[in-house]
Amino acid sequence: MKKTIYVLLAVPFALALIASAEAQEAPAQPATPTQLVDALNGVFGQHAGARAVHAKGVVLEGQFTPSPSAASISKAVHLQASAVPVTVRFSNFAGIPDIPDNHALASPRGLAIRFALPGGGSTDIVAHSFNGFPSPTADDFRDLLIALGTSGPDAPKPTPLDGYLASHPVAKAFLTAPKPAPESFATLPYYGVNTFRFINDAGKVTFGRYQFLPVSGAHYLADAKAAKAKPDYLSEEILQRLAKAPARFKLVVQVAEPGDKLDDPSTAWPNSRPVVELGTVEITRAVADNVAAQKSLMFLPNNVPAGIEPQDPMINARSAAYPVSFGRRQ
Ligand code: HEM
Repeated sequence: MKKTIYVLLAVPFALALIASAEAQEAPAQPATPTQLVDALNGVFGQHAGARAVHAKGVVLEGQFTPSPSAASISKAVHLQASAVPVTVRFSNFAGIPDIPDNHALASPRGLAIRFALPGGGSTDIVAHSFNGFPSPTADDFRDLLIALGTSGPDAPKPTPLDGYLASHPVAKAFLTAPKPAPESFATLPYYGVNTFRFINDAGKVTFGRYQFLPVSGAHYLADAKAAKAKPDYLSEEILQRLAKAPARFKLVVQVAEPGDKLDDPSTAWPNSRPVVELGTVEITRAVADNVAAQKSLMFLPNNVPAGIEPQDPMINARSAAYPVSFGRRQ
């Protein structure tokens, strides 16, 4: 684990010590996919065979059954009448494949899902367990990652991270927000955070963000219990849970109102926004070969069928960066 990780953990304490700090000079050029993955590797290190971020995970299978209301906002084929098979990967945040599940950098957790489309092909959603993101754009995210990666214990004070956080309150809020360890991967809400356009049969456009809401409710471990949890407690728990009963999530779209930001995932929309239920994800079992599935799967946020289109530019920026990480981990 890189030394810089410990700096990230020390952020809440370091912030209290910063009286004033200069803003980090932003690189002038837009972030390239390679720069983004290099910057992630700069924070977490490069680990053979592992994703640049969300490196530790477990792959499961099940099905998705659309709700009657789904077709009202999108003509996408998997949102019509019939159930479709799904593959789900739950993950810890850090790009560190052996990170303990109760480590601070294991949150937010990830939920990536691939729907097999009727008639062939697939569509993906890649979400995490925090309703927000540290950066409004991919360029800003690159700058944050570079600041993190260059602020190790030996960096002169104020560090690049000190400067960055002093001028980016949203990133500071994200890094310092409490992220309690969950009881289970199945007892967390997950948020898509980037905005898509949903188009129905009549051509009506709805701007929305995905949310996966756990049917069994959101449940977290008390701090004392989390501190004693085993390093792999989440992957062990989910398999024990599925041996007894499926894990279910309601997939909904939170609908934007006029004035809501459509290109800034760092700003959550108010909870009062209407939601449209798209259907139920039912996770039933582990895949036969978890190691092979982790390796071969590459989820892409812009892998969408007709009836769903990326609105937030970060969706395509992400989808250009994921193949760079995929290539490095083969
Ligand atoms: C510019 C912003 C972002 C960049 C550059 C980025 C980059 C990456 C990369 C390089 C990977 C590894 C892909 C692979 O090897 O297959 C990844 C995975 C992942 N990212 Fe992002 N990401 C961004 C934003 C987000 C956001 C907003 C979310 C949550 C809503 C998110 C959630 C995830 C999850 C859950 C995975 C694991 C996917 C899996 O299970 O295979 N990322 N990201």
